[in-house]
Amino acid sequence: MARILSGIKPTGKLTLGNYIGALKHFKDFQDSGDVYIFIADLHALTLPIDPEVLRINSRDLAAFYLASGLDPQKATIFTQSSVPEHAELNAILQNYLYMGELSRMTQFKEKSMHMKENAIGLGLFAYPVLMAADIVLYDADIVPVGEDQIQHVEITRDLVHRINSRYGEGTLVLPNYKINKVGARIMSLSDPNVKMSKSDPKGDIFLLDEMPVIRKKIMSAVTDMGNEVKYDKENKPGISNLLTIYASLREISIEEAEKQFVGYRYGDFKKVVADTVIGELEPFQNRYREIIASGEYLDRSEEHTSELQSHHDLV
Ligand code: AMP
Ligand code: TRP
Repeated sequence: MARILSGIKPTGKLTLGNYIGALKHFKDFQDSGDVYIFIADLHALTLPIDPEVLRINSRDLAAFYLASGLDPQKATIFTQSSVPEHAELNAILQNYLYMGELSRMTQFKEKSMHMKENAIGLGLFAYPVLMAADIVLYDADIVPVGEDQIQHVEITRDLVHRINSRYGEGTLVLPNYKINKVGARIMSLSDPNVKMSKSDPKGDIFLLDEMPVIRKKIMSAVTDMGNEVKYDKENKPGISNLLTIYASLREISIEEAEKQFVGYRYGDFKKVVADTVIGELEPFQNRYREIIASGEYLDRSEEHTSELQSHHDLV
């Protein structure tokens, strides 16, 4: 049985990009595979974060996992910091990834670009080492992620090859990333040339946004001067992004989505996209609220996170 592993950082409000690129698909593996999904709270420490915010986000993320349809009877859902072996293996693996290759990681370059050198934590630089530890610790075969994490799975593969050639084939299991054909990179609604990310309130749809807010954000999404609903990433990035959002939520191909909107004006097209996103997120939010209100399943992840928090308070 294939082993599937993925995680999300509890660093900010989750976006529709996180949902379409990663979260929504985790449950797809739980009937046929051995699924491990975790709250990447150690990775959340790679940039400054308030301990209380980390605590709330971690609990929220656990509730999001459950609301997405992950079933704790079928999948193992846990907090990264509650399994000390992640950090232990990290300490070993850091000897097998090199400064040069780590400094070429796009995520590191983007995140550190605007930071002063003496404020960039070593953990941000070594982020892929911990991620490699997460993956090989569980002998994961498949790592479902959005496009921006491919590079980190690839460096994990390099590391596995390196270790296996040194200590013998089969020492570590070689993981494969799995990205979705449609929706592996959802773009900002206010600037469709940049990725939708947790730190961009204007162009983001947050998973807990109210329905009228979601509608408004989609209706005012940046498009182009044309009038044809067609996928063309170069010349129509805004329309292409909305088509991607629609197709991924409907679970159809881009071509099928295009066919449905032949002859539509942009405004009418956006209205259907807004209805679709709301149709998905409204029941999701209801499930999330029920889970938070009942507290069931959440308390264990909270205990672990408060241990981390008290550690944080000590340092
Ligand atoms: P993070 O928020 O960085 O912990 O990301 C959690 C997961 O969401 C990762 O698998 C990312 O690749 C994925 N993800 C984040 N932003 C996007 C986006 N705009 N489009 C698609 N996937 C995304
Ligand atoms: N780095 C991932 C992200 O930002 C989160 C993550 C940490 C992860 N460890 C992982 C994803 C292991 C997959 C496998 O999205």
